[in-house]
Amino acid sequence: MPIKPCRRSRSSNSPHSGRVFHLALAGLLFVFALASGASVWAQASLSDEQISQKVEALLSRMTLEEKIGQLTQIAGGLLPGANPEEVVRKGGAGSILWLNDTKRFNEIQHVAVEESRLHIPVLFGLDVIHGYRTIFPVPLAMAASWDPKVEEKAQTIAAREARAAGIHWTFGPMVDIARDARWGRIVEGAGEDPYLGSAMAAAQVRGFQGPSLGTAPDRVVACAKHFAGYGAAEGGRDYDSVYIPESRMRNVYLPPFQAAVKAGVGTFMSAYMDLNNVPAAGNRWLLRQILRDEWGFQGFVVSDAMAVGNLVIQGFAADPRDAAYRALTAGLDMDMASGTYPKNLPDLVRDGKITMAQIDDAVRPILAVKFKMGLFENPYTDESRVEQVLSNPEHRAYAREAAQRSMVLLRNEGGLLPLSKSISSVAVIGPLSDSKADTEGSWLVFGHQPAAVTVLEGIRNKLGQSVRIEHANGPDIKRDIPSFFDAFATGPKKPEQTPEQAQTAYDEAVAAARKADVVVMVLGELANMSGEAASRAHLGLPGRQEELLEEVVGLGKPVALVLINGRPLSISWAAEHVPAILEAWEPGSEGGNAVADVLFGDVNPGGKLPATFPRSGAQEPLYYAHNLTHQPAGSQMYQSRYWDGPTEPLYPFGYGLSYTTFEFSNLQTERAEIRVGDRVGISVDVKNIGKVAGDEVVQIYIHQKAGSDSRPVRQLKGFHRIHLAPGEQQAVTLTLGPDELGYWSTSQGKWIQEAATFDIWAGGDSTADLHASLKVVP
Ligand code: NOJ
Repeated sequence: MPIKPCRRSRSSNSPHSGRVFHLALAGLLFVFALASGASVWAQASLSDEQISQKVEALLSRMTLEEKIGQLTQIAGGLLPGANPEEVVRKGGAGSILWLNDTKRFNEIQHVAVEESRLHIPVLFGLDVIHGYRTIFPVPLAMAASWDPKVEEKAQTIAAREARAAGIHWTFGPMVDIARDARWGRIVEGAGEDPYLGSAMAAAQVRGFQGPSLGTAPDRVVACAKHFAGYGAAEGGRDYDSVYIPESRMRNVYLPPFQAAVKAGVGTFMSAYMDLNNVPAAGNRWLLRQILRDEWGFQGFVVSDAMAVGNLVIQGFAADPRDAAYRALTAGLDMDMASGTYPKNLPDLVRDGKITMAQIDDAVRPILAVKFKMGLFENPYTDESRVEQVLSNPEHRAYAREAAQRSMVLLRNEGGLLPLSKSISSVAVIGPLSDSKADTEGSWLVFGHQPAAVTVLEGIRNKLGQSVRIEHANGPDIKRDIPSFFDAFATGPKKPEQTPEQAQTAYDEAVAAARKADVVVMVLGELANMSGEAASRAHLGLPGRQEELLEEVVGLGKPVALVLINGRPLSISWAAEHVPAILEAWEPGSEGGNAVADVLFGDVNPGGKLPATFPRSGAQEPLYYAHNLTHQPAGSQMYQSRYWDGPTEPLYPFGYGLSYTTFEFSNLQTERAEIRVGDRVGISVDVKNIGKVAGDEVVQIYIHQKAGSDSRPVRQLKGFHRIHLAPGEQQAVTLTLGPDELGYWSTSQGKWIQEAATFDIWAGGDSTADLHASLKVVP
């Protein structure tokens, strides 16, 4: 549907002064934009002052019901019985989610803009997590690039595609720190570390929104979620309660959220679970004290889906009315899909329990976001332009680059990789070797048709006709419980294999391996084994994959294992017996091509682990930045250990190999001693001492030796990914200052920076042993 100018009558009904002129001007600009070939998305850029005036003018004309409408987000089409037009015509929904249909967006928007009393446009929200049509690696993989610029550019493209399709608001980035790989939602975030997580959070906000909200026409509003502590669910079980002391909240779980605020994020989403016995959706400490009072957040907070209603189920609110009261007064502005606000807020205001001023405070930032996004000027989406934006070949090219940069080489005994392109035959084996959906990964937008290049296809593309390729999937991986996302899957459902069919598939896979010179095994997890409601207790290769791997390796052929998965896996056997292991994560649309680029040496992998790989799920939570224990490992009788297994991880945080080797030397602090509050440069020389060019991620870790509180054994406080030619050396300098050296102290109940001695390490992972000291004096 082409963009239509507003048809509504220009009566004295005008919601705010100057609107007639404004619409006329917008129309003129629109015509000019079309004539000049410029983007029709071009919008007037308004100052904060102008936006605030517009908000106040509009607010002053709104009825209580219309205001509560703006605080209400409804499910567009996904839930039975919902008729968005009917609700929107009455001004009953400020936002719609779970709809992904450009034509429907325009139809609904026409009703909102032309038929509702105040003509307020609807904000369309959807989870665009790692791409809209062009799918990038999952966020955990993007964090493995240790390159925020890659993440920023990927989300810029995701925003461009989503906005072209009519989406204004994405429910991302997910910035929850996750230190327990059993928790399925680890795939949606940047892993275990607050420093890396903060860098990735800010990069995603910049990518989605642009330099500041509303200044770039082909961007979307971002949403930092899930506020806060969701990743610390007890036992790694999704939605389970969380108990986090304030020091850990502030030092570990909150920094990525604050980084999102500093990057200008427009919205926040509250988490589902109880935080220290208070559900996040009704948690005044989080939503008011931290977010607004301390950080000065000016945007609005939406609940997670159904979470306001669920305050009753959680045993917190007595009934839905109490739930609405407690969520709104805690600082939660918009109710996602539970319908609790529209049903209960009107009476709460009429009964004097909630004041109109409280309602207005919640409405203001929602209207402000709509003004900033230019929705009053450009409410509609140009349907004729969608396909052109979505099929831009540059987007896929960048998806390939992002996937290349996110891959982590875990093992390469005897330099098996890169493989030669002049082998005569290769077997590509495994249930994930040719699965488009699992290659694209967890959480695609509704209705998306997986169109990834699989690893099999990528290897075919790379080797052409000259190399014989044997392929067999082996037995399917079976999920024992249905996935949350099965309901949204497109295409015919694959019937489950019978045990006989699975055995035949197994035998075919072994036979395929026998026939080839080299074997590439593509194993891991189905995409829907991570993500929401997808925790796992055991972190090994599910199904018969381990058995198949052991049998194929037993054939004595060179085997490279490519992992496709959404969380750290326990692959202890493989780590000892499979010569080459490449962690490809869920690599997205161009994943298979990127894997082939790395396997055959056109790209040298340089990614690093953003989360610790455990030896078993029983070790979780497992993370590098733990405190020292009373009896550390290595002491005689008493030590922190299991009777029946090691405590050490399989692969540490920050780890990753390359086809070349790097040498770190000459770690120096600019000054041996600094004062509290000073900044100091830390420099280290890095040299590529191998034969090929490659990337290294220079990582700086610190440890405060003593102080008011015990401090973690190591904490990442700086990183930089560099590229070095063979023989090239570079001095990398990073700085440490109060932000890096300070912390929130339990003993003192506040942020402090202390006079103390610090260990500093630099290297290519969190076990780096190149050491220097820094003395901080008062
Ligand atoms: C529930 C999920 O927890 C959240 O991450 C998501 O954004 C909403 N549903 C909306 O789909």
